[in-house]
Amino acid sequence: MSITHLIQLILLTCLLPLTGIWCHRRNYELQQNKAAIPLWKQRACEKARKHKASSHYICDDRGDVKCLPGWQGDLCQVPMCRKGCDPMNGYCQRPGECRCRIGYTGDLCEKCIPLPGCQHGDCTKPFECLCRSGWLGLFCTEPTCRTGCHNTRGYCEAPGDCRCRLGWAGRNCSDCSVLPGCQHGTCNKPLECNCLAGYTGLLCSTPICAVNCHKQHGYCRKPGECRCKVGWMGENCDKCFPYPGCVNGDCERPWECNCKPGWGGLLCDESEYEYRSKA
Ligand SMILES: *[C@@H]1O[C@H](CO)[C@@H](O)[C@H](O)[C@H]1NC(C)=O
Repeated sequence: MSITHLIQLILLTCLLPLTGIWCHRRNYELQQNKAAIPLWKQRACEKARKHKASSHYICDDRGDVKCLPGWQGDLCQVPMCRKGCDPMNGYCQRPGECRCRIGYTGDLCEKCIPLPGCQHGDCTKPFECLCRSGWLGLFCTEPTCRTGCHNTRGYCEAPGDCRCRLGWAGRNCSDCSVLPGCQHGTCNKPLECNCLAGYTGLLCSTPICAVNCHKQHGYCRKPGECRCKVGWMGENCDKCFPYPGCVNGDCERPWECNCKPGWGGLLCDESEYEYRSKA
């Protein structure tokens, strides 16, 4: 018979005056029953009644502590954290919470926090910075360059890359690079421009013309050539073109028609005698 049934029975029987004595006895039994509840439970239940706001349990009729949802422990003083909350790295102050201890993060505090500033690394415990493949350094900020990349003449911005510093060239950046703009030249040291045969100039962009090619009246586009500027001719471009139609004359500069002795006229086609008689 449960307590409530018993109370119902008592109430019922007490309504009948004739059974007053029996009823009294029943009440006495109930008192006895209460005396059987251990003192600590009685105190606990007392406290729960007095401080409803701060205690997380109620007592049933037998004086047994019943925790409110979300609380556990002898006196229900331990909150039940969010389901899955890491038992080591998480904790809670109210039910359903999951607060992380220092160095941990995530909904369930299951993740470690890496070293602040860690760029390309991970952690297995708080404040570690274990570099991912291809990265180096305390904060995993330095990429590892391609194998073979010269360690002072080359550098990289991403793992496996190999870029050359100014003055260096080649797959591994171990070769010198010529001066920027160098056309037909090579180097033994960075930024040189040593001309190949047939070329000259700062950037080795000027071809060297045929040996006797006239310096002013000839030019070339390839080494060893000799092309003539307008008004000049000959293998070495040292002969001028006379005025068109010039017969008995020659030139020192293009388009001249300087008559030979005994000749006159614009085209030197008139004998000096003829010329004089005309004049
Ligand atoms: C670059 O370095 C790699 C690895 O050391 C080597 O096998 C390769 O021959 C080098 N290439 C050049 C062009 O120097």
